[in-house]
Amino acid sequence: MTSKEIRKKFLVFFEERGHHIVPSAPLVVKNDPTLMFTNAGMNQFKDYFLGNIKSPYPRIANTQKCLRVSGKHNDLEQVGLDTYHHTMFEMLGNWSFADYFKQEAIAWAWELLTKEYGIPPDRLYVTYFQGDREENLLPDEETKKIWENIVDPTRVIAGNKKDNFWEMGETGPCGPCSEIHVDLRSEVERSKLPGHFLVNAGSPEVIELWNLVFIQYHRNASGQLEMLPDRHVDTGMGFERLVRILQNKNSNYETDLFSSLIERLEELTDLKYGKDEKVDIAMRVIADHIRAVSFAIADGQLPSNVKAGYVVRRILRRAVRYGYSFLNLKEPFLTYLYPVLCRIMGEQFPELEQQKSLVVKAIEEEEASFLQTLSHGIKRFEMYVEKNPTKIISGETAFELYDTYGFPLDLTQLMAKERDMTVDVEGFQQLLEQQKQRSRQDAEVHMGDWIELNPPSEIEFVGYDVLEIETKIIKYRKVTHKGKTFYHLVIDRTPFYPEGGGQVGDEGWLIQDQRVIHVTNTIKENELIIHITDNLPESLDGVWLAKVDVERRWDTMRNHSATHLLHWALRKLIGTHVEQKGSLVHPDYLRFDFLHFQKLSPSDIIHIEELINEQIRKNIPLQEYRKIPFSRAMEMQAIALFGEKYSDEVRVIQFDESKELCGGTHVRATGEIGVFKIVEESAIAAGVRRIEAVTGRKALQYFQQLHNKSTELRVFLKGKDPVQVIDELKATILSMEKQIQQFKQKELSHQAKMLLSKTVHKNSYVYLIEKMDLNGNELKDLTYQFKRENLPLMALLYSTQDPEKVHVVLYVDETLAKKYNINASNWIKEIVQPIQGKGGGQTTLAMAAGSKKENLTLMIEKAKTLFESVSK
Ligand code: SER
Repeated sequence: MTSKEIRKKFLVFFEERGHHIVPSAPLVVKNDPTLMFTNAGMNQFKDYFLGNIKSPYPRIANTQKCLRVSGKHNDLEQVGLDTYHHTMFEMLGNWSFADYFKQEAIAWAWELLTKEYGIPPDRLYVTYFQGDREENLLPDEETKKIWENIVDPTRVIAGNKKDNFWEMGETGPCGPCSEIHVDLRSEVERSKLPGHFLVNAGSPEVIELWNLVFIQYHRNASGQLEMLPDRHVDTGMGFERLVRILQNKNSNYETDLFSSLIERLEELTDLKYGKDEKVDIAMRVIADHIRAVSFAIADGQLPSNVKAGYVVRRILRRAVRYGYSFLNLKEPFLTYLYPVLCRIMGEQFPELEQQKSLVVKAIEEEEASFLQTLSHGIKRFEMYVEKNPTKIISGETAFELYDTYGFPLDLTQLMAKERDMTVDVEGFQQLLEQQKQRSRQDAEVHMGDWIELNPPSEIEFVGYDVLEIETKIIKYRKVTHKGKTFYHLVIDRTPFYPEGGGQVGDEGWLIQDQRVIHVTNTIKENELIIHITDNLPESLDGVWLAKVDVERRWDTMRNHSATHLLHWALRKLIGTHVEQKGSLVHPDYLRFDFLHFQKLSPSDIIHIEELINEQIRKNIPLQEYRKIPFSRAMEMQAIALFGEKYSDEVRVIQFDESKELCGGTHVRATGEIGVFKIVEESAIAAGVRRIEAVTGRKALQYFQQLHNKSTELRVFLKGKDPVQVIDELKATILSMEKQIQQFKQKELSHQAKMLLSKTVHKNSYVYLIEKMDLNGNELKDLTYQFKRENLPLMALLYSTQDPEKVHVVLYVDETLAKKYNINASNWIKEIVQPIQGKGGGQTTLAMAAGSKKENLTLMIEKAKTLFESVSK
């Protein structure tokens, strides 16, 4: 079976058993502070498990793109070294939300594996949770019994909390799990040692294939397990491993999911996979990482310096430097793999083709800039080695290379080895640990548990229609971050818009009699709307008036609607390739990032502004469609964004031709935007441009400031045109510079004449040693004057004007140099020795500088001896 057939069989199997098939959620997670990337199939259903919202379907199945490179589940360092871990992988999963439980989940998993996929039952082992005293959890006897009715009891193995109690992260839904492991060893090996000894023992041939989690608990912020109101099933099967088993390969990388990537690498490097362990590891690392990086970028996460972007950058760099170190790939190469990846996975994940130009550009730019950093780092390394008399690279240097130039320790070690040197690994580790500690402290957020005040009820967001409403506080928690304390509040009806879809969160107040709670921001944690405040009054009981800061909200709405008009105008005037890549809607301005490969010209900008302002003047009324089916929105040709997760019911915001899926808040008609003005257009990454613009009050302020500036300028220039004034000034400066130059020449020639009167006369030549009050370059200019005089002269001029250094120039007349075979460059090196100087030049003119001023007399004597020596 091909990988495509294997995937399909899974989905069809569960569809036939009443499961609704959903697409994979984006790899990049928004709205969940506990996660950066999707790390399990169940992430997108977290709210269903927790009971925050009800799942529209009791049974779901899909294949989910997952990335395990940060947080609780992190396999990054393992990837490539073995043959069955991945950064990005597909997880096949089936879910039950308060519907079927252990019996069906187990029976179906077994049926699918053994009957449909035909895996011999005697190669399979299953596990169940043995209980945990500390957590006060009993053994999962139910699962054990179910399995014992299906398989030989010797194949049913008890497992501890680490292996058999699955948790999404530090907090979140969790529960006991039952894993299915497969023994891929040869008959001979298997007859020697039964596979159950190798389950969960790190064997590369007895590996976990499918995990069936029985979600029953929620791990809260203080680490306690709370019982959930319902029981659910969450299963996850490693697709790449399944394909490896069914295609009968020794490694995931030999399956049709990876083999053509490896073949492409063989072509690019002229090396063969399977001959040298180092080459194999590097090829596996790259074949794996190109998938992770491409999918992350296609889902909207460009490499960057912070958070999720930094993770993508690190993965990409890991691939590049494995290629660099072990495959001799010194030029960018990753994008050659992209078409191959599209062939393998493009059908299931159309975003790969759709986002092709962005992904290729972004990878190209990132790779080139990293290779440049690497080469700077290598120079830095070489300079260090040159100066370092010992055979050890210090921990500081290894750390600097790691921190500034992205060199992992093993690369530095490799380069050291090539020079017969070693690295102070301990010193490096110490510095690394210190850095980790620092960033841990910075990142540490302590989130208290929710304290319930009123019974939980369905939370209602009313902020599309009203900006104040009476409400009750349902729960609150205390949060500390970097020594600051604040509070999170949840209220039952809220007009406060939570930060999302680019729009900032609302600010405002909760008011009760004389008491006021100042809401400084509103955010969303999954579907929960959280109001943030610095202080809480003693009692939170009773009814509060929730009141949004109206002016701020109106400014924000103007900018949000204007952002839609900008998106529309760009697509109309520049082209439909102009896809939104990021957006910030703030009360003071809007920022819009989009896909486009050239700078917008000034006339483009004017046209965009004109078109948008025309729409504003037409005062087009808002048409809002709340809760319409996604399919209907698509029929309306509303724009949806890449990397966004949409539910089946969506909201569409329309202003005439501009139609977008959007959850933000908007003006009632475009006229309320007032006016729109672009204030900046720039590039933020390869192929991604940014427009910043202002509307309404801020736009008026912007025009007023411009007007005031130009009025000021007109008064200052007495009504003259500034461009003309600048032109005139430029001409004046030019002519003055010329004059200064002439004066300088005169002055120099005067000084030269003075100096020549001080020369010491010998038989066939004259010499001169003089201190001058000039800088290094002026000293040199002075010697050009000597040259004009055409005298048999040798001159040493020096200056102590620079507080750090003595600057020295040595001039030797050309005929004289030839006649006595003098080389000024050699001489100067000797002359500046006493002042620990360095320098050089040509036979007739050389320059140097040294720092040991106290030895000036010695230097002068040395010069004198040399000058005198010529006549002997
Ligand atoms: N959540 C479980 C896992 O990721 C099963 O899907 O292993």
